Amino acid sequence: MAIQAPKGTKDLLPVEAANWQDFQSLAREVFGVYGYRLIETPIIETAELFVRGIGQATDVVNKEMFEALSGENMKSLIEGREVKAKSRLALRPEGTAGVVRAVVQHDLVPQGAPPAKLLYAGPMFRAENVQKGRQRQFNQVGVECLGSEEPTIDAEAIIMLMHFFDRLGIPRSSMVLLINSMGCDHCRPAYRDVIAQYLQEHHDEFCHTCQERAHTNPLRAFDCKDPNCAALMEKAPAITDYLCEDCVAHYETVKALLDRAGIEYKEDFTLVRGLDYYTRTVFEVQVDGGLGSQNAIGGGGRYDRLAEEIGGRPTPGFGFALGYERCQLALEAAGFTLPPEQGCDVFIACVNDEVREQAFELAERCRSSLISTEIDHQHRSLKSQFKLADRLSAARVIILGPDELAEGRCVLRDMGTHNEITIGLDEVVTELTNALL
Ligand code: HAM
Repeated sequence: MAIQAPKGTKDLLPVEAANWQDFQSLAREVFGVYGYRLIETPIIETAELFVRGIGQATDVVNKEMFEALSGENMKSLIEGREVKAKSRLALRPEGTAGVVRAVVQHDLVPQGAPPAKLLYAGPMFRAENVQKGRQRQFNQVGVECLGSEEPTIDAEAIIMLMHFFDRLGIPRSSMVLLINSMGCDHCRPAYRDVIAQYLQEHHDEFCHTCQERAHTNPLRAFDCKDPNCAALMEKAPAITDYLCEDCVAHYETVKALLDRAGIEYKEDFTLVRGLDYYTRTVFEVQVDGGLGSQNAIGGGGRYDRLAEEIGGRPTPGFGFALGYERCQLALEAAGFTLPPEQGCDVFIACVNDEVREQAFELAERCRSSLISTEIDHQHRSLKSQFKLADRLSAARVIILGPDELAEGRCVLRDMGTHNEITIGLDEVVTELTNALL
């Protein structure tokens, strides 16, 4: 059997690849109005960045991270030698840690500077169980704003994301925006203990992993996919009852700003998101149709300690990412289809093989004037060249025959009206430019 793409990866064929480019352009346009600028970070980073940034106890790092071994490292492992931490590389499972690493490394937020607003797009990798809307390589667009802990940043970014979904065409009525606050270093430790105790009190009712989470990372029990555990966690004490005064004020301001902007949301204290770096605001946008259990099309939150976790100075941050493929599924569920493959403006049909070189030359003249032009490369009959022109949705066909060529002319057919004119070869490009561009 011919070699197939690896499980959980997907080729973006031309129509979809063009659609992914349009998705990114729209994001640059909508987020650009809010001051977000493109940044490109490597697809491979040191594995340690994700271990320290996202957290060893998260599924993303613990179970799903693809590590990348160079030939040299592989040899070391086989020979029983250790691979140095800085040579252990991983394919990025998400974009935030890499962007924050770049901000720290290049000092993009020097003291007193305004926040750095950064936008990225590209593939992410997680070794998850593959299902609809859950791939091992998927595409995200994300933003990160570093250098301010003000709640206006949180609200601004969430409002901006909802505008993006509007422009994309996902109906507001099919989306729900969930928000929560995860507290900060002052109030979260106490809540963590409360949840650890809750897990221990109900020890026998929880799955084995959650029983362990009671000792390693109790809040991760909120992420458990086991329906039994999820039902138990819905009855757990809510973090909102344990937030410190500052966190309450921060959370209330975010909600008030969303209210003023007319953005509807639902508070959900079980929303902790699967990454350890979050503090204070977390949010997720879910859709109700077409995606089954993988219904989160985007999400994010605040991460005021992440820069320090990876060795930088305190630099509060907020961001989100959205999944391109899941947004496409949501659009499909809302009735959208991808546009047909792009054809060409002009097709040059040859009456016989004698005129092929002139057709080739004329095609180049048309393309130099930015008219997309195709010719036959397979010695087709005139009839099949017309069929091909139809298939390519050519708006005009130039018919080149030896008799017309001898007089320095060609026939130009309008494929919409079927009108034909005979026109000089030196005039045809100008005529096409006027008619088509
Ligand atoms: P995340 O929630 O892990 O957050 O991913 C963001 C989005 O990526 C999800 O809402 C979903 O649409 C998409 N996604 C995630 N995993 C998959 C998958 N296996 N297959 C298809 N799509 C997927 C983050 O990645 C954070 N870095 C967001 C963030 C930015 N937080 C702060 N700044």
